[in-house]
Amino acid sequence: MQTLKLKHLIGTRWFHWINFPLLFIMIWSGLLIYWAFPTYSLGPLHFFPDWFYNAFHMKQRLAEAMALHFFFMWLFVINGILYVAYTIISGEWRLLVPQSTSVFRDAWYVVLHDLRLRKDLPSQEKYNAAQQIAYTAIIIMGAGSLLTGLAIYKPAQLNWLAALFGGYQMARWFHFVLTVLYVLFFALHVWQVILAGWNNFRSMVSGWEVVHGNERTPAS
Ligand code: HEM
Repeated sequence: MQTLKLKHLIGTRWFHWINFPLLFIMIWSGLLIYWAFPTYSLGPLHFFPDWFYNAFHMKQRLAEAMALHFFFMWLFVINGILYVAYTIISGEWRLLVPQSTSVFRDAWYVVLHDLRLRKDLPSQEKYNAAQQIAYTAIIIMGAGSLLTGLAIYKPAQLNWLAALFGGYQMARWFHFVLTVLYVLFFALHVWQVILAGWNNFRSMVSGWEVVHGNERTPAS
């Protein structure tokens, strides 16, 4: 027998889908800004080769990028703060923030399971241990982008904040590394959503998922 089960609260869905284009705009405008002073590399690999900027028409757009970045950062921050407040008020945070001391071991078992190297999954509630770590980390990363962003936005007025990150150059470096981590998170997240299937994706849009008989609800 098939039944419908409410999986994601309306607030969670709204904040999630509003964040999606906002994060995209922040990354995009951030990269347009980075073009103007591209200093980082990973060994011989430069962020980014010239063909990359050419392919996406990213050159000479610093002013436009800064206008976008400094406007949309307000929406990104407001949406983030409202989301955190919502999870606290709704009690959803208990399911998201790791509560068990074995969370890293369990997350490792989830990874092995996903790589088909382990048969059973550790017991879980709505989110598995790997998801709890990832979804908690992404909130901390959001706060990190805000704080490092503010430090390089007003390095004179907020010099104490820049000093907290080891100075302006380090704050800029953290701000950039966080962006790389968002891109990695996004790739992994989308991959997991594809693996989890349509029923799971639809529940993030409509809130409801189809449950067969006594089947346990999958999470992604
Ligand atoms: C997820 C959110 C964000 C992402 C992905 C992001 C990404 C980036 C990237 C990739 C750069 C270029 C870094 C470089 O040149 O080294 C940048 C620059 C910058 N970002 Fe962000 N950022 C985010 C949020 C914020 C926030 C909330 C602020 C707050 C004020 C902010 C302020 C700045 C500033 C001031 C710069 C440097 C502009 C300049 O050099 O003139 N960012 N951002």
